[in-house]
Amino acid sequence: MCGIIGYVGKKEASKILLDALELLEYRGYDSAGIALSAEDKSSCKLIKCAGRVSDLRKRCKEADVTGDCGIGHTRWATHGGVCDENAHPHRFGKVTIIHNGIIENYGELIEKYGLEQKLYSQTDSEVVAAVLSHFYEGDPYAAIRKTVLKLKGTFALAILFDDIPGKIFAVRNVSPIVAASTRDGAILSSDVAAIVPFTSQYFVVPEFHVICLSKEGIEMFDLSGDKANIDWLTVDWDVSRSDKGGYPFYMEKEIMEQPQVVGDTILPRIKDGKPDFTAEGIKDSTLSDCKRICVIACGTAMHAGLVGKSLIQAMIGIHVDVVMASEFMYNDPVVDKDTLVIAISQSGETIDTLEALKFARKCGSPSISIVNVKGASIARESEHVIYTCAGPEIAVASTKAYTTQLAVLYLLTARMAMARGLWNDEKLNAYMKELMRVPDVMREVIARKDEIHHIADTMLNAKDVFMIGRGLDYSILLEGSLKLKEVSYIHSEAYASGELKHGTIALITEETPVIAVVTQDKLKSKELSNINEVQSRGAKVILLIKGEEIPEQEKIWNSIFRLPVMADEFMVMPASVVLQLIAYYVSADKGLDVDKPRNLAKVVTVE
Ligand code: G6P
Repeated sequence: MCGIIGYVGKKEASKILLDALELLEYRGYDSAGIALSAEDKSSCKLIKCAGRVSDLRKRCKEADVTGDCGIGHTRWATHGGVCDENAHPHRFGKVTIIHNGIIENYGELIEKYGLEQKLYSQTDSEVVAAVLSHFYEGDPYAAIRKTVLKLKGTFALAILFDDIPGKIFAVRNVSPIVAASTRDGAILSSDVAAIVPFTSQYFVVPEFHVICLSKEGIEMFDLSGDKANIDWLTVDWDVSRSDKGGYPFYMEKEIMEQPQVVGDTILPRIKDGKPDFTAEGIKDSTLSDCKRICVIACGTAMHAGLVGKSLIQAMIGIHVDVVMASEFMYNDPVVDKDTLVIAISQSGETIDTLEALKFARKCGSPSISIVNVKGASIARESEHVIYTCAGPEIAVASTKAYTTQLAVLYLLTARMAMARGLWNDEKLNAYMKELMRVPDVMREVIARKDEIHHIADTMLNAKDVFMIGRGLDYSILLEGSLKLKEVSYIHSEAYASGELKHGTIALITEETPVIAVVTQDKLKSKELSNINEVQSRGAKVILLIKGEEIPEQEKIWNSIFRLPVMADEFMVMPASVVLQLIAYYVSADKGLDVDKPRNLAKVVTVE
């Protein structure tokens, strides 16, 4: 979780750090801080506080700090509550650090190095500063090497030493650090998004390698002290996608970008009208030889997996499990060489997904990951990677990452059908034609945003919102419900409509909004009966239905949105955009901080 930034160069470091921390705030926003190294080798200047980066900015202005080398941190609390003392950076002796991750053996270290009475905070991170200080005798590399060998857990550390001004050292295990040279120095961060404004060339710091940033650039060494080569990557993100582009919130902007980024994800992977993964090196045998598929993912990415399961089971006829990555290891997973493992992750850093993937690979499973951030850990751990082309997703609530993940799953399903010789040309052509219509259909929905806003207005005072549907409609609603609850704080549950009668219908009262999605011909009549059941108990039904199905006079709804018509399996796409916009408008109209809902973080790098 936690966002990390470090900069050294000719510009004013405090400004660069604060601007970057604002971009990184989606990783955590309990507290924030910066430290600037002092040229006269006196103590680093440190400013930190509980609260948002905007609070830190005020403190920095009051303190009027300046410098050309520094580190910054935005925190999602794990060890120790939210207060000024627990905010990063942490100092001990001549050492100042910022940390992302969890040090599991911090208790042992406190005991071993006699730190009980010497720490100011309740964090595991300050213990790392203390151990580093214990080992530091003028050689930063030796101190870092000795320290990391004592640490158990995950860490991304950026370090300043008082007597080495103008240099930032960093090292990591599991938690990410990317770094880049700028025109006048160097920068490091937990996320590519923060370095995109400076350069398009960056690299992912390998685990247990130490980097040193200075005005001259970056050097990297392995733990034995040997110089290591850097594997440079290129960001192909449009820099403008990292700012709000005139929208009040990133979430709205990212919803609106979907027609473009879904097109960017699909079109380069279509050759002669057929889905093509040659660029990713995925052989047809990988898709045809597996006997079952296991999708591992968390949150929204897991919901994308559920849609993928419905598609693949219906169209390919093989068994697909979708497992929450956080539960994967606790259910004695049965994966083997005949199980194709698909890991889905926007950030590519979610620790549970990463660990589940590593386990599956040890069991001999072939693997494909669907990742948004280039070079991320999950991408590097899997045999093949298919990148979504969503660009930086900043709002904590995922929108464009989800629909681009779906786009990849649609392509994979079609390629799998080809690889297995299941579809004739006519069927493949019809499917691909429909897939290529998706961006335009999303545009149609977005053009009707005022209609959706009006529907959202009817839900502003709701305490609970239920969402009902069957099959694919139910999968869409699981994501729609997550979106609503995370940004609006309205309790919401998606329920398979057939299951409603087994308990949950007791919670439906007059005035409860119930969103019903009806997009699948084969499920329609049963879904409509379920809608009747809740309406006759007073629920206010908001119906999202495919096209002109069911005439006006049947009026089993209080509000209706007639979705643009696509083949049933593609109706997920327009329906998802409507559900995202409903959640967005409810949150924005309630005056909430849409992009940074309470208690959440965008990238979950702790178990
Ligand atoms: C967090 C985010 C969600 C995301 C989930 C999985 O909970 O807030 O938006 O879906 O992590 O993240 P990933 O990066 O693996 O897709």
